[in-house]
Amino acid sequence: MINRRKFLLSSSSAFALTQLPSNVYAKNGIQHYKLVAEAAEHIFYPNAQKSKLSLYNQQSPGPTIHAVKGDILEVDFLNLLDEPTTIHWHGIRNLNEMDGVPGLTQPAVEPGETFTYRFPLKDTGLFWYHAHTQAWKQVTKGLYGPLLVRDVNDETHHRDVLLVLDDWLLDDNEQLQLDSLGSLHDWSHGGRHGNFLTVNGQSKPNIAVPSNGQCKLRFLSATNARVMKFELNKKIPMKIIAIDGSPCAPFAVEKLTVAPAQRYDILVEDSSQLEELIEVSTSERLMAASFSTTKNTQVKYDTTPLHRPWYPLPQTTHAKIIDIHMQGGAMGNLASAVFEGEEKSLRDLAQNDAKLWAFNGEIGGYGLALADIALGDTVILRVWNDTRWRHAMHLHGQHFWVNSKEFGEQNRQVLRDTYLMQPSEKVDLIFTADNPGLWLFHCHMLEHHASGMGGVISVT
Ligand code: C2O
Ligand code: CU
Repeated sequence: MINRRKFLLSSSSAFALTQLPSNVYAKNGIQHYKLVAEAAEHIFYPNAQKSKLSLYNQQSPGPTIHAVKGDILEVDFLNLLDEPTTIHWHGIRNLNEMDGVPGLTQPAVEPGETFTYRFPLKDTGLFWYHAHTQAWKQVTKGLYGPLLVRDVNDETHHRDVLLVLDDWLLDDNEQLQLDSLGSLHDWSHGGRHGNFLTVNGQSKPNIAVPSNGQCKLRFLSATNARVMKFELNKKIPMKIIAIDGSPCAPFAVEKLTVAPAQRYDILVEDSSQLEELIEVSTSERLMAASFSTTKNTQVKYDTTPLHRPWYPLPQTTHAKIIDIHMQGGAMGNLASAVFEGEEKSLRDLAQNDAKLWAFNGEIGGYGLALADIALGDTVILRVWNDTRWRHAMHLHGQHFWVNSKEFGEQNRQVLRDTYLMQPSEKVDLIFTADNPGLWLFHCHMLEHHASGMGGVISVT
């Protein structure tokens, strides 16, 4: 087993040039990071007891990875957990072999083993990394962190305010409730919900913002399943300027809904007005964080050149349509489904296999093939949420266009990587399959994914 200290001190920068197209390599810098996953103790607020978690580099959230668009990110990873793990780079249009899905894109990294993730960063934006082996356990324990990719010309970036959100399920001693992990009730309903809200790993932190002028609040939700909703004090309008990393034409909302794994960049016109961030998804208005201003000089964000998403909506006249019928869960209409080649009743599946959700009559997993697509094809995932629950549907490897009422009465078409589907909703997720490999499509309510709500799209 590799010794942690030695690993952190060693400077391995051996770089296999052959793995990347040379044009990608030639003009770019390499950002080198080390991540160690291990048991750690964390303090959620001053004088709190130490909570036992699993973290990257002993931090919650894990260290923020900074890079510039066009860079190559190289992360030496060491697994000091007592179980296998992998890291997924959520929202990155990644090389398939760097996508971090165990048994699909790489073998899991065993305890004591290392793995080097190395890939080019093609897009600016707020992304994140998280464990993708039994994520319903490992992400719950804290294995995630932010990844910020900026444009080389963006000089205001370091003044951005990062807000990494999570809800933890803690007992009275501030320890994670582990007995309830794997509760079939949670799995068949809305997933595991916490009782303790944190922003950047702290309960009700005080966050510094510039004293006047514009500022950018960058939201990232790392919850297992809870859909959060936020408001600023005095209902200060929140102008959305980027969604899941990709810039969009700005529009304002009074309340911001953030589903698991989603990200939003919010432009606030006058940061001197900022006092509180309030969570309003339940009847209780919960102060999530307070703001205090620093003596920073005025920030003026030039977002004009950033209003364009990374790539335009493709023409869909010749699109390949893939129907995905989502079924199952509590109060659903799924009586039976195929699991490992055998038709079984839902009761049997729940009791014996902890499987509860299906795509097109089949319990999903890393083995369920949803579609075979030719590289370059335009694809419509025609998804029907035929369940009583909301689901945060995530596609690996590419982002999709979605036209929906998620922001209000008006339909709005945006580019994203995680879309919150309402019960009974039917929606088209549209993308150009320009990234070869085996890509997961799954619910980011992590218990739903574990119990069958996921499948694989193959692009060759
Ligand atoms: Cu953020 Cu398959 O995950
Ligand atoms: Cu779900």
